[in-house]
Amino acid sequence: MKKYNVGILGASGAVGREMIKVLEERNFPIETLKLFASERSVGKKVEFCGKELTIELADYGAWAGLDFVLGAASNAVAKQFADDIVKSGAVFIDNSSAFRMDPDIPLVVPEINAEDARNNKKGIIANPNCSTIITLVAVNAINKLSKIKGIVASTYQATSGAGAAGPVELDEQMRAIINGADITPSVFQYQIAENLIPQIGSFLDNGYTTEEMKMQNEGRKILHNPDLKVTCTCVRVPVVRSHSISATVVTERKLTVDEVKAAIAACEGCKLYDDVENKIYPMPLVTSDQDLVFVGRIREDIVHDNAITLWCCGDQVRKGAATNAIQIAEALIEK
Ligand SMILES: NC(=O)c1ccc[n+]([C@@H]2O[C@H](COP(=O)([O-])OP(=O)(O)OC[C@H]3O[C@@H](n4cnc5c(N)ncnc54)[C@H](OP(=O)(O)O)[C@@H]3O)[C@@H](O)[C@H]2O)c1
Repeated sequence: MKKYNVGILGASGAVGREMIKVLEERNFPIETLKLFASERSVGKKVEFCGKELTIELADYGAWAGLDFVLGAASNAVAKQFADDIVKSGAVFIDNSSAFRMDPDIPLVVPEINAEDARNNKKGIIANPNCSTIITLVAVNAINKLSKIKGIVASTYQATSGAGAAGPVELDEQMRAIINGADITPSVFQYQIAENLIPQIGSFLDNGYTTEEMKMQNEGRKILHNPDLKVTCTCVRVPVVRSHSISATVVTERKLTVDEVKAAIAACEGCKLYDDVENKIYPMPLVTSDQDLVFVGRIREDIVHDNAITLWCCGDQVRKGAATNAIQIAEALIEK
């Protein structure tokens, strides 16, 4: 079997560290793995498949000989190096939002539109927003039963969605509360311990945040449905890991709860987790450190015609970022 030379840009962060784990777990066919980050991390040692790797400086020319570069850094860093990565001959699979809405760059959730990844022409493939991936994997089966016209969603987003520094701040604030010490937020706008913050991203003229508009804009591109409407409220919650989403999904045809449950149970990437009599429903503690999107609380919506309401949770560092990117690379290898 052919083996590939892979690089990770942002290897010291929340997503980059998870990519190293996921590549090993999935037995990705690797010849060499190279790790890149800022000068803050240069020289740090990381274990991969029983070997010790050293983090190198992300810099122009560093990508020579690589087949894939997995992007796990900010928009600015992705934009800075994208051309150089592509010119070196590698495919850049990026987790930032820098290229997601470029019409010439595929935006891919492999369970839904792997074919788009295979049609990439610019050498860049974008990984969607984490809440968007989790929600779309959960409703993919519904969309196959009857085209989705709209989604009313609220997200409950874990602190690790803001990077490795997010859970550290939550932990420090919890300790400060116990010790009666002062709290000065730095990662989040306000204290996140014992709180919820209804702002992720910056506010737009329409009153939504940048994060909230991603589910509609990216959802249209992934589902090939330019008419999809999504109203979304994104909330940061004091959870370490795994995003949760409440979604009311409006479809063209009226669906029964039973057919939706059967379709979700059979759908790739999903786990039907819905037995309310026995208090079985998805929760972040249940869905962390694995790759499936758990779907439960499935019911006929009582406000909208032709609508199903559900609750889903998924590990946004894995399926919402690291694993999704590696699945894209696997789809390209299969091609
Ligand atoms: N966290 C999630 O759940 C999640 C989900 C989906 C998508 N994403 C996206 O994935 C990307 C990474 O997020 P994250 O949560 O992993 O962030 P993070 O924990 O803050 O990590 C950022 C990474 O970028 C590196 N970096 C910073 N400046 C750099 C530079 N000038 N040159 C090279 N590398 C640099 C950092 O290296 P140093 O440690 O050396 O500073 C670190 O490895 C972001 O675009 C984010 O929006 C994150």
